[in-house]
Amino acid sequence: MAENNKLEKLVSLCKRRGFVFQGSEIYGGLAGTWDYGPYGAQLAHNIKDIWWKHFVTNQENIFGITTPTIMPEGVWQSSGHLSGFTDPMVECLSCHNSFRADTLLPGGMGFNPKIWQSNLPNCPTCGAKKWGQIKDFNLMFPVDMGSSSSSIAYLRGEIAPGMFVNFKNILDTLHPKLPFGLAQIGRAYRNEIAPRDFLFRVREFDLMEIEFFLKEEDWQTHFEFWKEEMWKWIEKVGIDKESVHELEVAAEDRAHYSKRTVDFEFDYPFGRKELYGLAYRTDHDLKSHSNGSKVDLSYFDEETKERFVPHVVEPSMGHGRTMLAVLLSAYTEDEMDGEVRTYLKLKPAIAPVKVAVFPLLKNKPELVKKAREVFGMLKKEFGSVEFDDNGNIGKRYRRQDEIGTPFCVTVDFDTLEKSEHAVTVRDRDTGRQERVAISELTTFLKIKFNP
Ligand code: GAP
Repeated sequence: MAENNKLEKLVSLCKRRGFVFQGSEIYGGLAGTWDYGPYGAQLAHNIKDIWWKHFVTNQENIFGITTPTIMPEGVWQSSGHLSGFTDPMVECLSCHNSFRADTLLPGGMGFNPKIWQSNLPNCPTCGAKKWGQIKDFNLMFPVDMGSSSSSIAYLRGEIAPGMFVNFKNILDTLHPKLPFGLAQIGRAYRNEIAPRDFLFRVREFDLMEIEFFLKEEDWQTHFEFWKEEMWKWIEKVGIDKESVHELEVAAEDRAHYSKRTVDFEFDYPFGRKELYGLAYRTDHDLKSHSNGSKVDLSYFDEETKERFVPHVVEPSMGHGRTMLAVLLSAYTEDEMDGEVRTYLKLKPAIAPVKVAVFPLLKNKPELVKKAREVFGMLKKEFGSVEFDDNGNIGKRYRRQDEIGTPFCVTVDFDTLEKSEHAVTVRDRDTGRQERVAISELTTFLKIKFNP
């Protein structure tokens, strides 16, 4: 399949089947925002649930928290977002569209004014080469709070500060020993100059992130540990590992707080670009927030009787980019029964629908009754189970294939008439069908889901 139209096909499937719609579509759409329809929302929840299990509940020393998306100006002054959370913006003087200047240069990472001047690109919209001055454009969204304008606040551009400002609360309440981490899943907002490429660059998205606090001398060990956990996660969630590549980010391209950053890049149809990041943030954040708030954010080591500010390793994973990489990895076309078939090869654990149940014919009450019984039994066990009696069986298979349902169960006349009361179970990936007795169906599917 040509990579350049794979994205178009995926976007079309996502709309056709109720995964993702343009945000505020009936008002003409709001750039950089996307609505998740029923299957997208379920997929999104499944990804978050598995992330939480992998990175929080399955770990010994990670505490999950949730913090507000609005934080006061002081937080963002300390974190450096008000001064440094900017992208280089440039306006085409011919068509007056604005662009992120760094994305117009070959290579993509970082922005070098000298390279810009000596390689002036053509405007991607109108082709002209007439550019205005490069400006630093701040990505933070200010918020008017309350009735007086004295309290300036911002929608968070990162979720990390919510964890740094809670460091002391956690020390005072849970008294954890280093190393330990705070984890959070939540919304971040960035006023991106040019949102693009579907879920890749948007203005509002969820982040799944850990701030792991440690002793300075141990940072490399923990950095390697979290790198391995991120690889395990990539496999677990069903992102094609062959399409993911580590990139050691050069010093000049790293965020000001980072002493080492490894990006996990993914081969999207529009090029190899960042999926996730892993950064060693040193003691920069706790020190900055301690200075800004005038609250001591140091740690006292009972064993060595030393007081110091912990250092931080931060695995940071964008949820929307996870959705995109998962969907691109799952999107498959093959040939079945002489026709091109499209399906999402999603792992059962994240598939929005685990099983679909059909009566062979809609107008035979005895088939419908039995199918509804089977549906009720499976729904109790697997939750996300669908009953479908629309159209013919072929159409129902095509629909379930496109939403990535791993198994379809059909109740037919043999189910009613033959002594074993078997149903047909069809495997999404192979299209193979086998007969399974209703009494064994739940166990059969459980084994298929967790081989
Ligand atoms: N706390 C670190 C941090 O926020 P970041 O590299 O700015 O680091 C983290 O963002 C992750 O958020 C990225 O690796 C990417 O997955 C995702 N991300 C960043 N900007 C995004 C955008 N505009 N749209 C969608 N996802 C984005």
